Amino acid sequence: MHILVLNGPNLNMLGVREPEHYGTETLADLEAMISEEAARLGITVTFFQSNHEGALVDKIQEAYGTADGILINPAAYTHTSVALLDAVKAVQLPTVEVHISDPDSRDEFRKISYIRQACIATVKGKGFPGYLEGLRLLAEHIREK
Ligand code: DQA
Repeated sequence: MHILVLNGPNLNMLGVREPEHYGTETLADLEAMISEEAARLGITVTFFQSNHEGALVDKIQEAYGTADGILINPAAYTHTSVALLDAVKAVQLPTVEVHISDPDSRDEFRKISYIRQACIATVKGKGFPGYLEGLRLLAEHIREK
């Protein structure tokens, strides 16, 4: 089983960026944590982070035929991007949306998630461990199919 792990804009700034929302650990720490859980679950993962919407769309399209599922934190594009929603719908791969903070309890404009309607689950407000939960949910879903 192979999972594509996508992180959207400004998540390369983890560790520096708004630690009250996102903590003090880095993207490299996060990816190491996910790799460890993936090994434990017997699955492989590919990581990709971009600040560019089109680059994320391209990666989702590339997952068609090469990955079994997608774990995505679309970051700010959660609240704006029909293109990411359409990409996930196009490839029809099981997808889990993850957020480090709980966007629903922050600004009004963070309450909308376009991608959510194409996702099998959303994990939010659980910090980095939320990605591990998302990975387990995906693996269970794919194994049941
Ligand atoms: C985020 C929440 C979004 O509202 C925000 O734009 C982000 C990160 C999170 O992980 O909590 O960049 O997706």
